[in-house]
Amino acid sequence: MATRAPKHFATTALRQLSRRDAPELTIYQYCRLRPRGLHTSARRASKDTTSGAPPPKLPTGRKRLVQARAAPFGLAVGGGLIASVLAYSQLGEEKPKLDSAPPTSTDDRDPSLPRYRLVDVRKHDASSSEPWVAFEDKVYNITDWIAAHPGGDVILRAAGGSIEPYWNIFTIHKAPHVREILQQYLIGFIDMADLGPDGLPAAESIEDPFVSDPIRDPRLITHTAKPRNAEPPNEELDRTFRTPNELFYVRHHMWVPVVEETKAGEHVLTIELPDGDTKEYTLDDLKTKFPAHKVTVALQCSGNRRNDMTRHAGKTNGLQWGVGAISNAVWEGVRLSDILADAGLKVLDATSPTLKGPVTTPTNDQDDANALHVQFTGLEAYGASIPLAKALDPRGDVLLAFGMNGETLPRDHGFPLRAVVPGHVAARSVKWLSKIVVSDEESTSQWQRRDYKSFGPNEGPNPDWDRAPSIQEMPVTSAITGVWVGDCVRRGRVPWMGPTDNSQTTPQQNSSPILDMAAVSKKVGFTPNSTSPAEPPCPSTTPAEPIALQGYAYSGGGRAISRVDVSLDGGKTWDQAELVNDCVGGTNNNNNSENCFGNKSWAWKRWRYTGNLPILSLPTTTPTTTTTSTTTDPTTAAERSSSGCHDRTKPKHCTTVVVKATDDAYNTQPENHRGIYNVRGNLATAWHRVKICPRCTDNGAGRGLTWSTGETYGCGFRKEAEEVREGMRRQGVMAAAAANGNGNGGK
Ligand code: MTE
Repeated sequence: MATRAPKHFATTALRQLSRRDAPELTIYQYCRLRPRGLHTSARRASKDTTSGAPPPKLPTGRKRLVQARAAPFGLAVGGGLIASVLAYSQLGEEKPKLDSAPPTSTDDRDPSLPRYRLVDVRKHDASSSEPWVAFEDKVYNITDWIAAHPGGDVILRAAGGSIEPYWNIFTIHKAPHVREILQQYLIGFIDMADLGPDGLPAAESIEDPFVSDPIRDPRLITHTAKPRNAEPPNEELDRTFRTPNELFYVRHHMWVPVVEETKAGEHVLTIELPDGDTKEYTLDDLKTKFPAHKVTVALQCSGNRRNDMTRHAGKTNGLQWGVGAISNAVWEGVRLSDILADAGLKVLDATSPTLKGPVTTPTNDQDDANALHVQFTGLEAYGASIPLAKALDPRGDVLLAFGMNGETLPRDHGFPLRAVVPGHVAARSVKWLSKIVVSDEESTSQWQRRDYKSFGPNEGPNPDWDRAPSIQEMPVTSAITGVWVGDCVRRGRVPWMGPTDNSQTTPQQNSSPILDMAAVSKKVGFTPNSTSPAEPPCPSTTPAEPIALQGYAYSGGGRAISRVDVSLDGGKTWDQAELVNDCVGGTNNNNNSENCFGNKSWAWKRWRYTGNLPILSLPTTTPTTTTTSTTTDPTTAAERSSSGCHDRTKPKHCTTVVVKATDDAYNTQPENHRGIYNVRGNLATAWHRVKICPRCTDNGAGRGLTWSTGETYGCGFRKEAEEVREGMRRQGVMAAAAANGNGNGGK
């Protein structure tokens, strides 16, 4: 039965909070600094250290919790509060009663306030009528604060423990004004018996909010472990059209919420309509009452290829993703438009996301779909929104998904329910979906109002966050994920090519087609030279060696990729790649392939290319005395200086292979990142360049030229490279490559 909910709770204040430049005063006002009842007494008592007044009684009763809309900075505030509490949950010996302990002789803190053992704090967890949190050596009763908390009741996550781990996630809390807010709810101190010599609870007693996160595939390249952010190595990324679930890139802002598998069917999704009406659906309801649909969708983070922008245009804030913050899957679920209609949403027909204003005037019970937004909130309080017109577009394919590639949605990807918004930035595909609000404004979360926006290159480190629109549909992009040169190509080491010269192929070489493409400085090929020790190992020029490339291209908004252009000489001359026909019939519009579902081109397009490298000159003596290559290095001086990859004193013997894609609206990628630079490093879609360098060798691999590249994953990003190698080592892949003797294991 539908219930009434408060309409647009405190949206103005939330909007203010979401602004980076919102004055602290605004936050104070919103966060209700005036505690009520006995909190006030406690505060007064804390100021009057000489009064000798008895410890204040604790307030009783608890306000009805009101869940605020998705949390902007408030979320951080709330999350932060949570953190300190958890920290202490493991501390202290059991104490028989809840009463406060008298201050000890070494305790010079305010004697008018009581002391609490950590075991007492733990009793005031989220299920308590009076939730408490701890921070440093202090205890706070946050009961009255929850309703006013801009992040909603996510703050309860910390109840009964330390709020500190959450403040480490929501770093906005590490600001003086947040401390002051918390101070209003001070009720006492942690007992000395639970404090270490530094006056704080032991660090090891602080609960890890990520303790229940799932175990991940070791091949993923980890950018941050807590929260987990990881991308597949290049060689795995688009090996198949559908990225295997365990290798699909992972982008979390917080911990992975725990939903027991046996209770997944009871997971509740709440829908709130513009008039405040709410309706609830369990997952079982969704599965049984609505038709299921499949849609093939590539999800891409707006930070994909950010390291490319950093290396070529300047410092950017955010995870330094390689080319793997994108993956492709078949999603199964129910249509969001079906659920909204069932919930009773009455709107004028959405026209098109690009056509402003209603076609006819809305009546009293019909809102203008073009002016509304669908706000999604996840169980851990992440929030984002999309225009309602996208949600209602009959060809828009927005799903509430519970399946991924034929399996139950994995925990890392939103189990038990997530939004999948095809063609839009993946930040809008909210995981662990628990609430949907149809509102007259965008989500107030920082992920809607701040993080996932882009700016002009002139705006520098302090862009106008409010003026820039939130990223929704994604621009066209492409990337090179595999490079094979020389013997690799001739001997058929390219997975999608048959051997061209079987006479030279040994069984051992055939058994290991895997190239370690993800790490820095990869060996991608070998050109054998003379076998005679009398002859020098190096020719003066390279032959026009065969090269094979592979990669992906993608455009947002359902726009199909119509062309992928490849250059082997840094962009001077161009050829076209072959587009892989992963969908029967060649388009995503045909639902007759088990790979491809949906009304538009929501999936990525894989491409392949074979050609011949230009002839490059090589040093005949030592590098310092040789002449430069006949092939110019297209990298500009600015790029060289920002990347730190190239020594300008040394001659260049390299060439740069380049890829760029064009979609069916003739949008194409910009030539370089300098023109689209923004401090967030979002939408790094410039031509993807990979430099390939030959080097004379005379080692165990034989006499000849070794071809290597340092840029498919990122020159200078050693950390990631090491992690890739570690993951590969654990998989035994490195061992196989080394045994193969072709040096593909990287270095
Ligand atoms: N949903 C929730 N609840 N929490 C999150 O941290 N991250 C968003 C989006 N949905 C996020 C979320 C971002 S920024 C991205 S890029 C995608 O999820 C990543 O989805 P994936 O981890 O399944 O690849």
